[in-house]
Amino acid sequence: MAKEATYQLLDGKRCGDALKSEIAAKAQQVKEQRGRPPHLAAVLVGDDGASRTYVEAKVKACEQVGFRSTLIKLPGTTTEAELLARVAALNTDPGIDGFIVQLPLPGHIDPDKVTEAIDPRKDVDGFHPMNVGNMVLGLPGYLPATPSGICELLKYYRVETVGKRCVVLGRSNIVGTPMSILLSRNTYPGNCTVTLAHSRTADLPSITRDADILVVAIGKPQFLTADMVKEGAVVVDVGIHRLPDTGNKSGFRLVGDVDFDQVAPKCAAISPVPGGVGPMTITSLLLNTLRACTGIRAS
Ligand code: GUN
Repeated sequence: MAKEATYQLLDGKRCGDALKSEIAAKAQQVKEQRGRPPHLAAVLVGDDGASRTYVEAKVKACEQVGFRSTLIKLPGTTTEAELLARVAALNTDPGIDGFIVQLPLPGHIDPDKVTEAIDPRKDVDGFHPMNVGNMVLGLPGYLPATPSGICELLKYYRVETVGKRCVVLGRSNIVGTPMSILLSRNTYPGNCTVTLAHSRTADLPSITRDADILVVAIGKPQFLTADMVKEGAVVVDVGIHRLPDTGNKSGFRLVGDVDFDQVAPKCAAISPVPGGVGPMTITSLLLNTLRACTGIRAS
């Protein structure tokens, strides 16, 4: 007989919506006190389809919570100097609380140069070296949206983390590396014993099978299979990919880095794709923007 699924779904839409109603209430207070709501600007260079979708979702989320948003669309031919001039203008614009430059940028623009040009006080992506350093040291600053959204999701579902073995799969600057740091911190969620696994990790399945908590941000569709997961693990799927699907009206379906159907029955809890980490990333960006407007506290 097939095993009955008993896992908890880590529903990022539900958690994100709950947080968004709190953010909306605070945005209303800000508006009453200061005469204007928090204001996020997003810069999009070029016409990468996925990036446009992400940025438009961020702008829509601003509207939902009563923030102001400005989307600055620049052509793919924009030079590095032109983009740096835009960043400088946003840095000094008193009407903008925080802004992001959507990545990836066209090949002729150095993303590190652009990130370093953003005023750390307006860097609501948390990508500036100053904010990364503050995160590592546990000092006040902006946390990167995806890892901090995952922390919010774990909190909302009261996932136990103290003393747990956590494996983070993928060492990117914006997800895997900061996630490994946040889950090691002496706070909740945190106090995990963290392993940061990557493309050069030897015998990956033996490492992932040891994990109580698995955060998968490897960027490969349905990479994590059931044989790589311990019974009762908590799995967080950061990936999002379009797979061709003729049975679907859109011609594709969305999948994550986890083979959900295979893995979910083994899990105590698992996040879906879509509707898991994605909505939480956007919610965290809104939280950072609110903090940019009202003042940064320790995080
Ligand atoms: N590209 C993929 N994720 C992100 C993100 O969180 N922020 C920005 N600026 N670009 C991204």
